[in-house]
Amino acid sequence: MVKFHVLTILPEFFEGPFRSGVTGRALQSGKADLELVNLRDFTEDIHRTVDDRPYGGGPGMVLKAEPIARALDRIREEAKGASARVVLLSAQGRVFRQKDAESWAELDHLILICGRYEGVDERVALHLADEEISIGDFVISGGEAAAAVIVDAVLRRIPGVVGKWESIVTDSFMAGILGYPQYTRPAEFRGWAVPEVLAGGDHKKIQRWREEAALSKTERNRPDLLPDRHQEPADEPLG
Ligand SMILES: C[S@@+](CC[C@H](N)C(=O)[O-])C[C@H]1O[C@@H](n2cnc3c(N)ncnc32)[C@H](O)[C@@H]1O
Repeated sequence: MVKFHVLTILPEFFEGPFRSGVTGRALQSGKADLELVNLRDFTEDIHRTVDDRPYGGGPGMVLKAEPIARALDRIREEAKGASARVVLLSAQGRVFRQKDAESWAELDHLILICGRYEGVDERVALHLADEEISIGDFVISGGEAAAAVIVDAVLRRIPGVVGKWESIVTDSFMAGILGYPQYTRPAEFRGWAVPEVLAGGDHKKIQRWREEAALSKTERNRPDLLPDRHQEPADEPLG
């Protein structure tokens, strides 16, 4: 069973995300374990200092390496002999993918380090984390929202967390393309009708329609997922 350790200076951030929905139920029912690690508990000064000014000058503050290193030492002691991965959440990291969710769901310990302010002392990326992971090419104010995203995605891959396994295998990215479009009642709304085949009850036809619809939606919204089909237009010959 995977145990998430989320290293943060804002543990209160997770009161909502980790208590509700699929994530909340999975954690409450013991399908996975979660520890919020307050980095201030790993400081050694009276002010419980977790940040300092950047070397070389510049605006803002940087999260210090020592409280993170001490927290990791404590977790490594607990995780001795078990499989563990230390991930630093960072806009500068490799982008998180569904495949990561799948393999991390098999770990014993997944340790997520949340940055804040201007970021984290680079020595954490260089010497303490196994890798830096980003949730996309944009910057958010702290790693906590990114950690909540990753915990959710990993939990979905643990058998029994999502009621029906079929919901998982038809998810986007599971077959390398987007999932098929979904409709519900009414059959017509503002003149927009549900594709007839879906209400027809012929399961073979429905299956075929869904495969084609998933592919054309992928072509439309994410052609990069179809490298064989997605070719840049050839350069016009000069002159
Ligand atoms: C305001 S950001 C720091 C951005 C940093 N100055 C940079 O240019 O990359 C503060 C923290 O938010 C988190 N963060 C920001 N964007 C992220 C992203 N796209 N994916 C994962 N974490 C992110 C990281 O933990 C980061 O240390």
